[in-house]
Amino acid sequence: MKARVNSCPPKYCALLMLPAVFILFFTQFKYYSIPTKIQNSERVSSEPLWVQHDFCTFQPLSQKDAVEERHLLGSIAWPETPHLPHSLSLEQTSDPAHSTFTILPRTGGGQWHVGDQLGVMIKINDYQGFPKKSGGDVLLARMHNPILGAGVAGQVVDHLNGSYSGIFSLLWEGSAQIEVTLVHPSEAVTVLRRLTKEQPDRISFQSLFRSGALSETTTCNVCLRPTQQPVCNYTDPHTGEPWFCFKPRKLSCDTRINHSKGAFKQSLKAREENLFQSGVNMKVFIQASGPDSVAVLPKKNDEPKVKNWFVKPEWSGYYYQGLWRALSGTTVRQFNTSPAITQCLRGKAVHLYGDSTIRQWFEHLIATVPDIKEFDLHNERQIGPFMALDFANNILLTYRCHGPPIRFTNTPTSELRYVANELDGLIGGTNTVVVIGIWSHFSTFPLQVYIRRLQSIRRAVVRLLDRAPGTLVVIRTANLKDLTLYETLTNSDWYSLQHDKVLRAMFKGYNVRLVDAWEMSLAHHLPHSLHPQPPIVKNMIDVLLSYICH
Ligand SMILES: *[C@@H]1O[C@H](CO)[C@@H](O)[C@H](O)[C@H]1NC(C)=O
Ligand SMILES: *[C@@H]1O[C@H](CO)[C@@H](O)[C@H](O)[C@H]1NC(C)=O
Ligand SMILES: *[C@@H]1O[C@H](CO)[C@@H](O)[C@H](O)[C@H]1NC(C)=O
Repeated sequence: MKARVNSCPPKYCALLMLPAVFILFFTQFKYYSIPTKIQNSERVSSEPLWVQHDFCTFQPLSQKDAVEERHLLGSIAWPETPHLPHSLSLEQTSDPAHSTFTILPRTGGGQWHVGDQLGVMIKINDYQGFPKKSGGDVLLARMHNPILGAGVAGQVVDHLNGSYSGIFSLLWEGSAQIEVTLVHPSEAVTVLRRLTKEQPDRISFQSLFRSGALSETTTCNVCLRPTQQPVCNYTDPHTGEPWFCFKPRKLSCDTRINHSKGAFKQSLKAREENLFQSGVNMKVFIQASGPDSVAVLPKKNDEPKVKNWFVKPEWSGYYYQGLWRALSGTTVRQFNTSPAITQCLRGKAVHLYGDSTIRQWFEHLIATVPDIKEFDLHNERQIGPFMALDFANNILLTYRCHGPPIRFTNTPTSELRYVANELDGLIGGTNTVVVIGIWSHFSTFPLQVYIRRLQSIRRAVVRLLDRAPGTLVVIRTANLKDLTLYETLTNSDWYSLQHDKVLRAMFKGYNVRLVDAWEMSLAHHLPHSLHPQPPIVKNMIDVLLSYICH
């Protein structure tokens, strides 16, 4: 499993160096060429993410999958981040209040026009006002105009010396205001990384075993700490997804009734909590050193676009008048009325698989279209599965949660189904739409767990598209969240970001469509939330329906 940076084949070496330039928003690796100055593999974390975790071991993969896994882990390696000093004082850590960004002048001078790219230089300083000398801070950038209801994500490039570039595309006429947010100081990433390595089980799970009058509850997880206690192995025979519970003392492994999220074990070292303070150094705006906005004039046709950045940014889309416009070729239509949605979905079966952020789509659709009536399967709201029907228009809508790890409570074991197995049970075809959204329950685990899950889902998607090429497969990406200390240690945006990069890379080049929830949550003015608010969900559903009815 161990791989050394200096012994990789040339093709992958290039990827291993990519982290030198981390891009908060990217869809395609190939556009980035890296300035030679920072092509220094020593800067890449000396603790690659694929080293064996303390007690999680993984089944060997096929040669091809193993190569992909290594390559993906290399591609998301984060720059090395500093530890909190022994004094555990914040003094030398990144401080948004002492940091600034500056809008860079337009290359060639003159006024800004639609179509230009705009850059900002972000300088991160510590609490004493001294410039940081290393990278790895987690930053978000956004450009917006509240009056126009316009917003677009920016890309952030880490120069690994305490400064970062923010890159924006000017897409509308009028004022464009820049917003830069420090999500986490680099020192906090050190802690988040350590937690995944040392405590992938910081959220525990439990199962109730019952037979006759006997019942017992034991602890379960993707990997259990080795003990003398016997273990029940629930590894899925088809997909190979691992899952284990300690064996109950008096009952057999076959008597497992249900699955629940257990306790969260918080084990920060003294005062490490200081690195995760809302309003201080977690999701805090960075001020501009000068103006924070520019006036953008209409597109100039006679002048070549200003485009001399070393990255070619790629954006999925942007908001204008509160509506999402795709930049990738799809025209996003508005499905504002229930009949418009019904007409689009007539004759279709739409199957939603994933976590609660996909369940939101089910809820949104049944709330918006009264003719699609939920059939009461007597299941718990959090868990499902759910089914809704419009009998007259032959519309079927289903939702099912993904298999463990899943942080739901009282999930019957009979409902613990892996997405790949469900896809294998579909006939598919031009009337079938499959939507997959799986990300937020994986953040506490080593990335191998997520990569393997996606490999098995992807194999099933390929089989489905092979036997029924007309099937539409849509993938919803991760989105930004509201961060409290607990949310951060279990589900920080940094974890989501890393997982999301893997998701996009793994489905790139496959015949699937993306709904870019990450950009749609970043570009919008509403606060980040695990469950984005209705106006954002409405825009996501418009993108979905535009894929179905183009
Ligand atoms: C950091 O690196 C960037 C890109 O190489 C460079 O433009 C910038 O001047 C450097 N900043 C400092 C403080 O050295
Ligand atoms: C669990 O079962 C799977 C599939 O049967 C097997 O490959 C794996 O080695 C088992 N794991 C352990 C720890 O026993
Ligand atoms: C599932 O397990 C929990 C304990 O974890 C228990 O309280 C609940 O009643 C169980 N549900 C069922 C249906 O047995």
